[in-house]
Amino acid sequence: MRLKRKGEKGEMGKVAIYPGSFDPLTYGHIDIVERALEIFDKVILAIAHDAEKKPLFTVEERVEMAKTIFKDNPNVIVDSFKGLLVNYVEKTNAKVILRGLRATSDFEYEFHMASMNRSLSTHLDTLFMMTSKDYFFVSSRTIKEVARLGGVVEGLVPDLVARKLKEKFKLPLPKRKLIGWED
Ligand code: PNS
Repeated sequence: MRLKRKGEKGEMGKVAIYPGSFDPLTYGHIDIVERALEIFDKVILAIAHDAEKKPLFTVEERVEMAKTIFKDNPNVIVDSFKGLLVNYVEKTNAKVILRGLRATSDFEYEFHMASMNRSLSTHLDTLFMMTSKDYFFVSSRTIKEVARLGGVVEGLVPDLVARKLKEKFKLPLPKRKLIGWED
């Protein structure tokens, strides 16, 4: 995907690339996207084929879920990329990589990744946004674990994601109010 340069017809304004595994997308991610749209005109949610972890959902499944979730927001573009993130970002002409930070424990990994990306592509910057207090404990990894063991993830991920997790883990969809969850 190539974004138009400033002044070019159809130029997209200020764009941030929000890369990740999004396996699956959580309300923590959505919160970052929504807040980033206060600063940027467009956010490209870029789902990586080449992340280190073994994913639960295929890239195609994750792209489809994210497209459905953001279908009413024309300023969010859902895409996927293969290979190095910096090469993908270069093709879009965006200058900013956006990442969420939940806790200091995220910092080391993020610092290394941002530094490596900066060394590969010196004109790209990584912008960090603190995850909001409502979601700082939410990660895709813990969401998968809780869902796999039959716990409640509704309220932490969109309903579509909660449903897809149950399908993946072949769990029944809940018919009653679940213990430990308050509206
Ligand atoms: O959500 P994640 O898994 O923390 O996201 C990590 C991701 C996908 C942003 C990172 O693994 C990545 O950029 N992968 C693409 C390959 C790449 O560029 N690796 C070098 C980064 S130092």
